[in-house]
Amino acid sequence: MDPIIFDYDKCQQDGVCAAVCPRRLISFDPEERWPRPIAQAAELCIRCGHCLAVCPASAVTVAGVRPEDCPPLEPARLPAYESLDHLLRGRRSIRVYKDQPVEPAVMARLMDTCRYAPSGSNSQPVHWVVVQDKERLHFLAGLVVDWMRAALAEGQERARIMRLDVVVAAWERGEDRITRGAPCLLLNHAPRESSMPRENCVIAMTYLDLAASALGLGACWLGYMMHAAPDHPPLREALGVPPENDPHGAMLLGYPRYKYRRIPPRQEAKVAWW
Ligand SMILES: Cc1cc2nc3c(=O)[nH]c(=O)nc-3n(C[C@H](O)[C@H](O)[C@H](O)COP(=O)(O)O)c2cc1C
Ligand code: SF4
Repeated sequence: MDPIIFDYDKCQQDGVCAAVCPRRLISFDPEERWPRPIAQAAELCIRCGHCLAVCPASAVTVAGVRPEDCPPLEPARLPAYESLDHLLRGRRSIRVYKDQPVEPAVMARLMDTCRYAPSGSNSQPVHWVVVQDKERLHFLAGLVVDWMRAALAEGQERARIMRLDVVVAAWERGEDRITRGAPCLLLNHAPRESSMPRENCVIAMTYLDLAASALGLGACWLGYMMHAAPDHPPLREALGVPPENDPHGAMLLGYPRYKYRRIPPRQEAKVAWW
């Protein structure tokens, strides 16, 4: 069955659905002016919903999803560029947290927002692991340290570059520079065979970082975990990553203990203008 159904009573014959389809699955003859799915539409459609979302007449249904099932896009609710720019510049990597859990409703809200991150071929392959149990956080940090010790013993170049010896020494003094006392750790993973799993996971995690910032939370990328999780089977197992998936993004999350008051400088944009 065709995934794309047109309501020809509503159709205004403007052809915008055909124009935006990323796979050119809708034909629109300039003379006849009726949109029609092409023969391979069922096989090639990625259910991105662009044809539905762009139609001014609410005349397109995709894979059983009707226009009335989709909330309207309200331009008046979008942030002004200045607001978004301030959020993007003002977001910091937060490493000192209040001893306060992230409320389940807040976590659920963030997870709900991150579903809307773009993904290669609209594959939406990202799975999340959310760890909030303190003992489990400590256990996972210990597994990362085990991986660090092994990487140091093997003389891995990245162990030298990241100065893992310093992190391990801190751990041995009782200082956790991995989870840093954060009340929450997130990891995401995706099927190895999906379209661009690493990019999709990292983009979804970036959504989380920015959405968290907008809610007054603070987050920090957890590169140590991103190095360790794919390489250290006990850690992978403890995180519940299935064998057909690979872990990619990892992030700490919590309420910042300290308020940042200024935006530190960054390098000038390095751009080749042609
Ligand atoms: C890693 C990645 C690679 C993508 N590559 C392409 C691409 O090569 N060509 C293209 O037209 N769209 C590409 N996209 C866009 C996706 O098809 C798009 O995000 C998806 O269909 C969902 O649509 P949306 O972004 O409008 O929500 C890519 C998206 C991601 C995240
Ligand atoms: S859902 Fe996306 S890929 Fe499928 S027909 Fe519509 S625009 Fe094209």
